[in-house]
Amino acid sequence: MSIRNNNRRQFIQLSALGVASAAFPGLLAANPGQIRSRATPGFKPDIELEMSSRSVNVPILNGPKTRVQKYYGKLLKGPKNALVALKDNYLGPIINLEKGQKVRVYFDNNLSEPSVIHWHGLHVPQKSDGHPMYSINAGERFVYEFEVMNRAGTSFYHSHSHELTAEQVYKGLAGMITVTDEEEQKLDLPSGEYDLPLVLQDRSFNRRNQLQYVHGMHSRMMGFLGDTILVNGKPDAEFAVKTRAYRFRAINGSNSRIYKLGWDDGTPLTAIGTDAGLLEKPETRPYLMLAPGERIDLWLDFSGRKVGSKLVMYSLPFSGAMPPMASKMRGRGGMGMMGGGLAQGVKFPVAVFKVSEKVSDSPSLPKRLVKIDRFSNRDVDNASNPLPIGISMKPMRPLLNGKSFSMDKVMDFERVKLDSIKKIKIFHDHGMEKEEHGEKLAKKMGGMKGGMGMMGGGMMLSMAHPIHLHGQQFQVVSRKIGGMRQREYKTVSEGFIDSGWKDTVLVMPGEEIEIIKPFQNFKGLFLYHCHNLEHEDMGMMRQFYIS
Ligand code: C2O
Ligand code: CU
Repeated sequence: MSIRNNNRRQFIQLSALGVASAAFPGLLAANPGQIRSRATPGFKPDIELEMSSRSVNVPILNGPKTRVQKYYGKLLKGPKNALVALKDNYLGPIINLEKGQKVRVYFDNNLSEPSVIHWHGLHVPQKSDGHPMYSINAGERFVYEFEVMNRAGTSFYHSHSHELTAEQVYKGLAGMITVTDEEEQKLDLPSGEYDLPLVLQDRSFNRRNQLQYVHGMHSRMMGFLGDTILVNGKPDAEFAVKTRAYRFRAINGSNSRIYKLGWDDGTPLTAIGTDAGLLEKPETRPYLMLAPGERIDLWLDFSGRKVGSKLVMYSLPFSGAMPPMASKMRGRGGMGMMGGGLAQGVKFPVAVFKVSEKVSDSPSLPKRLVKIDRFSNRDVDNASNPLPIGISMKPMRPLLNGKSFSMDKVMDFERVKLDSIKKIKIFHDHGMEKEEHGEKLAKKMGGMKGGMGMMGGGMMLSMAHPIHLHGQQFQVVSRKIGGMRQREYKTVSEGFIDSGWKDTVLVMPGEEIEIIKPFQNFKGLFLYHCHNLEHEDMGMMRQFYIS
């Protein structure tokens, strides 16, 4: 990289810093005085919660309890069902919200390290979005205030603490959020005991039932993969179901494991919602992909099934998500796995559904769900010049747009005008790889085509990344797959639903995805990052500055 380039970059960063700190005086770095620790007098909440994070022991496996980090909640004001605690669980209480409600959350950090809550999927002001700059220290309090602007759907909250997200989520700091609205209530969707969470996570335990996490650079680069699958915080999940339709809200709360959900006998799966929103109409697929951070609302219909019969939901085998080298090392206890663990893409059971009672009536699957206005090029102001999200992996450093996360920096193209609607292109940027660190090597190789990506570690480290953007949901408008991994791509390609609202999208190796996203209502810094939480903590995160 030339010196001039370097200077220019520094200039952009410094000016960005200037703007950011002018707009948010003192919020950057350690200035706890600026953290909102008191309620705003004019804000009249419909729901008031007291949440806290604590280290506790909970029963997960048979035998000794497991040390976890857990969110506790207490309802101070609002409808009784706004907060539903899960007994003997590390998952935080389910938070049930309604569009239009005003919510205030007092968060007390009772851990011995900094933490912050992010409401993944909710469209809230910067100050309540859980940006790591709002992490509070042990013993401190933060007050979140927001209005529920989302449409009906499923979201989840989790820690977003600076460089501690992966570990804190792994230890338990996560929980489900549901939002309902009038449009949803007009539909006769399964509710109450027929509307259930399906939070998918993988963990590894030692012989004393304590959680094992990875710390080695190499494993973190591939992402944590555990050997024990937990559903709603428990192993060997089994649901006793009646002969009728259910809504299961699947959330991938794993650090880096990708699920390919499907029934073993080939019965297709029906989805009625994706990340934080119902679909226009149900979509039925042979299997459904669910990457970290994504949600799918499943319509599981057991009517017509025999009492006593059992159905097993699997994560079916797929390939292509890991770098070619890592997959070769599979079976040798290779990269990204705990000893003898479950590699990415192998088949394993997720949950058993035991049909245990016959009932006579069941809601039928609606033909239409909600109205969705599709975005097109006409809605955006940059159709031919999309904002880039370039994915690259330097050895030991996953990057976005060639950079690591920096709390107080934005590049010039990361500045977005409030109320604009933008096209964004997410792609694997092996070129950036070359520019960043391959220049010398490129000279040596003397223009050997195609060699650079390999040598520079680009292609070789190419893997799937679930890219998440904070703020409003977006729509996926196109996917292109190039490169040499098309056969692998076919093992996953039927499982992506692009017809609804999304806030996280899995980008497979060689894939280029265009999305359209509105930037409305709130100014400020809003993150975009890889939701492979190890990658996020390693700096695979940037931010938009909306002004
Ligand atoms: Cu679910 Cu920025 O995260
Ligand atoms: Cu990633």
